[in-house]
Amino acid sequence: MELARPSKKTNGVGVQVGDTMICVVMVGLPARGKSLIAQKAQRYLKWLSIDAKVFNVGNYRRKGAAQPTADFFDVNNSEGERMRRAAAEAAVDDMMKWFKEGGGIIAILDATNSTKSRRRWIKERCDKENIETLFVESKCDDEDLIMSNILEVKTTSPDYVGQDPEAAAQDFRNRIRNYEKVYETIDEEEKNLTYLKIMDVGSRVIINQIQDYLQSRVVYYLMNLHIKRRSIWLSRHGESMYNVTGQIGGDAELSPRGEQYARKLPELVRESFEGQEHPLTVWTSTLKRTIATARHLPQEWNQLQWKALDELDSGVCDNMTYAEIKTEYPDDFKARDDDKYNYRYRGGESYRDVVIRLEPIIMELERSENILIVTHQAILRCIYAYFMKEDQERSPWLNVPLHCLIKLTPRAYGTEKVVYKANIDAVSTWRGKGSTAKHEDPTDETASLAKLGDGHVEFDAPAVSSDEDASAFSTTPSLDDIKVEVTSEFHRFPAHYLGEGRHRLPRK
Ligand code: F6P
Repeated sequence: MELARPSKKTNGVGVQVGDTMICVVMVGLPARGKSLIAQKAQRYLKWLSIDAKVFNVGNYRRKGAAQPTADFFDVNNSEGERMRRAAAEAAVDDMMKWFKEGGGIIAILDATNSTKSRRRWIKERCDKENIETLFVESKCDDEDLIMSNILEVKTTSPDYVGQDPEAAAQDFRNRIRNYEKVYETIDEEEKNLTYLKIMDVGSRVIINQIQDYLQSRVVYYLMNLHIKRRSIWLSRHGESMYNVTGQIGGDAELSPRGEQYARKLPELVRESFEGQEHPLTVWTSTLKRTIATARHLPQEWNQLQWKALDELDSGVCDNMTYAEIKTEYPDDFKARDDDKYNYRYRGGESYRDVVIRLEPIIMELERSENILIVTHQAILRCIYAYFMKEDQERSPWLNVPLHCLIKLTPRAYGTEKVVYKANIDAVSTWRGKGSTAKHEDPTDETASLAKLGDGHVEFDAPAVSSDEDASAFSTTPSLDDIKVEVTSEFHRFPAHYLGEGRHRLPRK
């Protein structure tokens, strides 16, 4: 019997998903980066407002066997087999319920799913409910990589809490050996499956039988991921003359204090290196204030201007103060406060629109290494929301003070954030709901990007994951040498999928 669920014509940003439901099935031995890939995919999809959820079989298994030793994973251990099978069934049952009752779009089944029979079973269950399956295998045979992965993350897994790290790593290796005994990679026999096979952390990928736009979008994202250790630096431009007068938009010059910040930025960046010098690539918007802010950075660093990094377009309200907007367009002013993420300025943009235009930036960021982005308040909020998993409804209200540098370092589980303050005064451009003040002090409850200043480290998520295959590769091959193999027709994006999404377009 098919699942009955409400029809969803539009979801996501710029994506019409129709009634598509996809189960992304992770495949691979433990310590191959599956959980990391799963988490990243979920974060990306949610940022695009596509409802996605990871179902981690390890979490279900831990309910019955909290800290099993390697023997538990031996195929000859019938009790272990029974419990692992039960955990997989419970995870799949919950996933089905989520599709049916929660209206979910993309589920990510995070487990080893390392045998053909297990994959067949998942596919059959999904087929019955009209859920597409996309198998994503991470295959890696580089022993050094695997070992560093085991040591970096596995020893902090809930399976080994409180245990000696050396013994834990050894036990984990034994667990992998047990999985190896039965592991079957996806091969010719499974050529009817839709799959993406990522080999040696992306040095070679195989794409097979991709069926539709949403699948290809997920695949494209996963192909762009690299998991090399790197950081992303974010800064707003220095205080502008418009910031001082409380006007929005425009293309104003820096104020004298903004100019001071521009001169200090190179020093602030150097401080953030914490002894480890590395050249950065600098991205700015095409507006004067970001270009001026970046102009004292080392000449030898590449600088690139992106139109996509320009501030949110405030349309007819460009150059106005919030007080003027409230007088001139009272309904709009209220509508924006009521739903700031979706509200689109007349002739301008909404935050939702900004996320659409930032997608190529995110993709490029995923492909790149150390990047410093000098941009604007709204844009920074959106990029920050992607890395820090901020709720989209909340992100437009984040307080992003001027004159501080935010360093984000994606780690195995979550993104590490450090804020460096320039200690140069600037006006506040944050505005609370209903307020028309030119410069308002953010309230205490306001989520502030700069709450933790001066080298204090914060994570967006606990550093320790609860996942079965908690693993992250700390090094990857160079991006220069990625080979893509397409083993069956890779469908082009059908134009009708490129819908606009539904945004509020106010009319006066
Ligand atoms: O005030 C500075 C500014 O960058 C404006 O140019 C822009 O319209 C605004 O911030 C975006 O912030 P909010 O969405 O809170 O109005």
